[in-house]
Amino acid sequence: MVENEFALQMQDITKRFPGVLANDRISLDCKKGEVMGLLGENGAGKTTLMNVLYGLHQPDGGKILIDGKEVQITSPSAAIHYGIGMVHQHFKLVDTLTALENIVLGMPTKKAFLDLAPARERLMQLSDEYGLHVDPDTEIWRLPVGQQQWVEILKSLYRDAKILVLDEPTAVLAPAESDQLCQAIHRLTEEGRSIIFISHKLREVMEITDRVTIIRDGKYIGTIQTKEATQLKLAQMMVGRPVSIVRQPRPVIEKKEPILVMKDVNANDDRGVQALKNFNLTVNAGEIVGVAGVDGNGQRELSECISGLRKLTSGSITVKGKQVTDVVADPSFIGFIPEDRQKTGLVMDFSVAENLIIKDYYKEPYAKKNILHHPVIKKHAKELIEKYNIKTPSGDVKVRNLSGGNQQKVIIARELDAEPVLDVASQPTRGLDMGAVANVHDILLKERNRGAAILFISAELQEVMALSDRIIVLFRGEVMGVLDGDKADASTIGQMMLGQSPEVAI
Ligand SMILES: Nc1ncnc2c1ncn2[C@@H]1O[C@H](COP(=O)(O)OP(=O)(O)OP(=O)(O)O)[C@@H](O)[C@H]1O
Ligand SMILES: [Mg+2]
Repeated sequence: MVENEFALQMQDITKRFPGVLANDRISLDCKKGEVMGLLGENGAGKTTLMNVLYGLHQPDGGKILIDGKEVQITSPSAAIHYGIGMVHQHFKLVDTLTALENIVLGMPTKKAFLDLAPARERLMQLSDEYGLHVDPDTEIWRLPVGQQQWVEILKSLYRDAKILVLDEPTAVLAPAESDQLCQAIHRLTEEGRSIIFISHKLREVMEITDRVTIIRDGKYIGTIQTKEATQLKLAQMMVGRPVSIVRQPRPVIEKKEPILVMKDVNANDDRGVQALKNFNLTVNAGEIVGVAGVDGNGQRELSECISGLRKLTSGSITVKGKQVTDVVADPSFIGFIPEDRQKTGLVMDFSVAENLIIKDYYKEPYAKKNILHHPVIKKHAKELIEKYNIKTPSGDVKVRNLSGGNQQKVIIARELDAEPVLDVASQPTRGLDMGAVANVHDILLKERNRGAAILFISAELQEVMALSDRIIVLFRGEVMGVLDGDKADASTIGQMMLGQSPEVAI
């Protein structure tokens, strides 16, 4: 008998949620030793399809074949039994447990107590084999997000997954980590394992995948060989029209009132290591200052200091002349788009409408004498859903049920609609599709043109260059240099990102 070349075939999968047809007869297959890309805009139905595969959702129609045989995947444990591993778009690790404890969590054990020694050995062996190094004894919350991802992958490999689903794995990775991941993927496919790779970064999809399946609005659009594709073609199939990220012309704003002023700021990271060193920065009204840098060079601490989430060890931060701590809760002063949208940006079990008023829910017009005024809250939600193009059947839906990109839009709508004098946007386009990225750029540019001061932190050099009036490059918590956005070139910034001082700084 000839061995089946397909590790996985999903045929005509349909999945409905109240008010949404998330998957409308979608088919996807993956050969042994192949990387299959899965592409589609935010809300297209990618995660839903993978949740069906992993037994988290029961499909309303269609079938799944593993090694050519039809199977019923009724739960994640059934999925694991069939050799399916999944690294979720939003990690599902237990923050307070160590890497090793997370990996063995849920594994059957024959003994009355948990003997971690053999598990540790196996984990170290897997880490070495795939070049994904983690400290087994550090609690998850202390690990950088890249290593949390390795823990998720190692967890699946520990269970010997034959088909590994990676849902936007590189959205949170620094470039060097993405390279490491690529190498690990290469190893895995050499061993005959199959990978389903979801990403909004087309360059990576072109590099890593063998074939790509494109879906749009819950529907199957097509599958193509990667070597016959171009980024432009993929984008077009995905969005239905051509899109690209370019620097747009912008009016000159004459009046340069300083809004955000940071003076000699020093701050530590979660582990007590100095993360910002004598940091000085002024952002003026009507200006976008982009912070370029490899993730993990102080970006997170920078935005947390401004938002009052992190204490300075010394120095000062003012907004329009006032201490930042005095105005941080005032939506007309600071709009804040945090890096981790699920942990600090949203309350996942609240509705879209509730999340949209979370800063002002106790004030008029949303509440009177401590009683919420629901018709007003509903109307407000309806307006913002339209204005910011949030894809949801209504404002009553829990934010948890929105796609990742649409969750981000909820935060942007809430934070920017009050027209604050300062916008702090930390990785605001992470995980967004190209159309949505262009949309966020348009919004930030409009904010600038209305006179807001904008601090824009992003690990994507291309978008920092497209959007910024001035660019500062952050390396190990220090400003390596400041460049004019109109004149900056990628190779100079790239060198500065690696810690080399510029010859021409402005
Ligand atoms: N549990 C759920 N209940 C209700 N609706 C849901 C649920 N899960 C997903 N949806 C809806 O199904 C649609 C598809 O969402 P899905 O998360 O699969 O998109 P996606 O392609 O992964 O998007 P992204 O790129 O933003 O992650 C969206 O409209 C979403 O709001
Ligand atoms: Mg998704």
